[in-house]
Amino acid sequence: MKFTILTLGSAIAATNAAVLGERAASAVVGKPEGFASGATGGGGAACQVPSSTSQLKTWLSDSTARCIILDKEFNFKGTEGTVTETGCRPASNKCPGNGGQDAINHASWCTNGNAGAGSINIQVTYDKAGVSGLTVGSNKSIIGSGSKGVLRGKGLRIANGAKNVIIQNIHITDLNPQYIWGGDAITVDGSDLVWVDHCKVSLIGRQMFVAGNGASNRVTLSNNEFDGRSSWSATCDGRHYWGIYLTGSQDLITMKNNYIHHTSGRSPKIGGNSLVHAVNNMFHDNTGHAFDNDKGGMVVAEGNVFQNVKTPLLTNAGQFFGSPSTSANAVCSASLGHACQLNAFGSSGSLGGTDTGFMSNFQGKSIASASTANAGSIQNAAGFGKI
Ligand SMILES: *[C@@H]1O[C@H](CO)[C@@H](O)[C@H](O)[C@H]1NC(C)=O
Repeated sequence: MKFTILTLGSAIAATNAAVLGERAASAVVGKPEGFASGATGGGGAACQVPSSTSQLKTWLSDSTARCIILDKEFNFKGTEGTVTETGCRPASNKCPGNGGQDAINHASWCTNGNAGAGSINIQVTYDKAGVSGLTVGSNKSIIGSGSKGVLRGKGLRIANGAKNVIIQNIHITDLNPQYIWGGDAITVDGSDLVWVDHCKVSLIGRQMFVAGNGASNRVTLSNNEFDGRSSWSATCDGRHYWGIYLTGSQDLITMKNNYIHHTSGRSPKIGGNSLVHAVNNMFHDNTGHAFDNDKGGMVVAEGNVFQNVKTPLLTNAGQFFGSPSTSANAVCSASLGHACQLNAFGSSGSLGGTDTGFMSNFQGKSIASASTANAGSIQNAAGFGKI
């Protein structure tokens, strides 16, 4: 009897959730946590719905504070035409025509040795809109309505001094996924106060999130789903290699409650001079590596779940604290304001990382809280169409 009542209750809850999901977005939901906690986006600007891809492009890039609601799919494919030119089949594509990823010759990548010995030139045809992101100016909130806000064929670029941007509850997808250099979903490069929350990223040619070499200052990535499933995999195994790339100078990046799955590398790669707080994320089904910490990268990883992740930390040429034991984790209190939480591992390699010399860099900054590692709560809440 009790079982029947519980079942009925959850059916009603599910119906209510579906109805709520259809409601029109009219404001940012919740508040940013961690480094970008001061982001207000468009602030009090009245929310407006763009009528076309060109109006969306204008509103994103102008110098007016705006709240922009995406209430449908904005499809940029074809809006800038297609390009056919010489690219390459890099050495990594050991399964041509059968799930591999070829490359656009961006910045001579095909010819400067990056494509590897055995790379051959081939003709590539790609959608031009995908390879450059929509310029986003300062003081913008970009919010998806229910599960309708989709950006297809073009990503977002917050650069050249743009500040105070909130991107919430949208799905960015379909940026020339068959090609390395086919496009980046979200780029920050020379910015400040960027909050990306409850978004989904899938089927991207290059990086799902990239902090370029400029100083991007305070960034929070929270509750996002990075879905690496792809029929064009640089590792020939249906998983996207080019996940999250954090190599900015002077960057402060909080990654909390993100669900990063079916990737095979760079999830994330860190370098430059980036201070990263990776807390309560779920790394799932990764056939390569999650963290790759290059020279200059400084990372505290705590309360994360690694489930079926072959190599949680590839190299540590920077400084990395992997929250190794309850006694060791007490060291976090002085700088982060809490004892670090243990990471959880299922069918995964080990993380390692016992560096602590960089922790004082967290002092005086806005630091996200940490909970016990919990796969279910992260998976259920991350992604778009859920708020
Ligand atoms: C963004 O908003 C802040 C605060 O209102 C303002 O000082 C700044 O000039 C705005 N930036 C732009 C580019 O409009």
